[in-house]
Amino acid sequence: MKTQPEVPTPDQNKSSRRRFVGTLSAASATVMVHSSVAKAEEQVELRLAVIGAGGRGTGAINDSLTANAGVKLVAAADLYRNKCMNLRSAMTRRHPDKVDLPDARIYEGLDGYKHILDDPDIDVVLLTTSPGFRPYHLLEAAQAGKHVFAEKPTCVDPAGYRICLQADALARKNGTAIVTGTQYRRQTNYVGAIEQIRAGAIGDIVGAMTRYCSNGIWYRGRQEGMSDAEYQLYNWMHFIWLSGDQICEQAVHNIDVMNWVMDGPPETAYGSGGRFTRPEDSEMWDNMAIDYEYPGGRLVSFMCRQIPNTQSDNGNVIYGTAGTCYIAAGNGGSRITDRSGKEIWRMEGSIGEAYQQEHKDLIDSIRNGQPIVELKQTADSSLTAVMGRLAAYTGQRVTWEFVTEKSQLDLFPKNLSWDADMPEPRFAIPGETKLI
Ligand SMILES: NC(=O)c1ccc[n+]([C@@H]2O[C@H](COP(=O)([O-])OP(=O)(O)OC[C@H]3O[C@@H](n4cnc5c(N)ncnc54)[C@H](O)[C@@H]3O)[C@@H](O)[C@H]2O)c1
Repeated sequence: MKTQPEVPTPDQNKSSRRRFVGTLSAASATVMVHSSVAKAEEQVELRLAVIGAGGRGTGAINDSLTANAGVKLVAAADLYRNKCMNLRSAMTRRHPDKVDLPDARIYEGLDGYKHILDDPDIDVVLLTTSPGFRPYHLLEAAQAGKHVFAEKPTCVDPAGYRICLQADALARKNGTAIVTGTQYRRQTNYVGAIEQIRAGAIGDIVGAMTRYCSNGIWYRGRQEGMSDAEYQLYNWMHFIWLSGDQICEQAVHNIDVMNWVMDGPPETAYGSGGRFTRPEDSEMWDNMAIDYEYPGGRLVSFMCRQIPNTQSDNGNVIYGTAGTCYIAAGNGGSRITDRSGKEIWRMEGSIGEAYQQEHKDLIDSIRNGQPIVELKQTADSSLTAVMGRLAAYTGQRVTWEFVTEKSQLDLFPKNLSWDADMPEPRFAIPGETKLI
């Protein structure tokens, strides 16, 4: 490979760029550490597209454009065109040299994203829609040979989990990346605390406690003229096929940390919860408390809640035979105490840096020819959240074996269309809701 590629003519430009990016994806690590390749790769621009141009889509593309050189936002898709226009305005203001997003590469509607996956000149897609679509978008993106950033949760039911496993396997086979939005895995004080635990700072882990308790979440009321489907897509948080309830949509962050600490998913979940303050047509519960039992009889006590005027608490406590590790959410930092309560270690960390680090890691991994594929890990955590939800909704003990191998639950509507009538929203009632 030449150190300095010749400047291509406009006609050659696309195909030679694609060839080079393809080479980067498939190249072996040994080849990639070669300095001449490293110089050449700096000259290859990676072209990014966002699918789901809402709050996090805008945040995620901003993180990528901030953290990476040689990247450009070139396409966007959303149910609503104006979401893409707003995203384009915000990114053009912040990163004028990293945006080339003409009207022709803005796509709307339920299937607009397919234009992005069909475009051979797009290298990386950011999947930031409501969660219910994620497994399908992940698999299609992997089939299209795209590198992917996918927000959490990656599935809201066992059917979606199995699709995630297919996408993970395909990406590994094809040499394309899938990085996920579990940013705490890249936050310095989380990584530092887990390293301390692994090194024996709290002795053997005997159990843990994790909470995601907050004051509430948005509710988007039905607008005049909306079909059932459009309304649910718009107000997605409150419909379980789209959000998975708070335990999946939000508290999966804590569950992912627990799976990280415990080095894999739990064996069983048993839990309870209920609803008191949700709007009439919301399927969400207000709170859930789940006991997860991990191998070795290690119990994780989990709680999530979204109720106005209650005391917030978001963080993780890991109990060991020799001490206790406290990892607070956001920028709260980590600390370890010994059995007497004396602090023996502490570390600060920034969630903002972690949000950017995941995008830097993704792009670096593509460039160095060792694409990161971490979907299974995040799919396991998403399914752990599903398992807890099913335990609470049904009032039954639910096993990992059941959710991975036996459950037939598949929430995604068949023949979804913009104008579709949808079944009447229903919230779960333990003792009535069946475990399927
Ligand atoms: N990692 C984090 O800390 C973090 C923070 C916030 C949100 N999130 C996750 O990001 C995702 C999006 O959340 P948000 O807060 O941005 O929601 P949002 O409602 O602001 O944005 C979602 C966007 O996706 C669009 N959309 C839905 N279905 C689509 C489809 N089929 N094709 C194209 N566009 C579609 C919607 O129109 C909407 O604009 C969720 O999975 C959420 O859990 C992660």
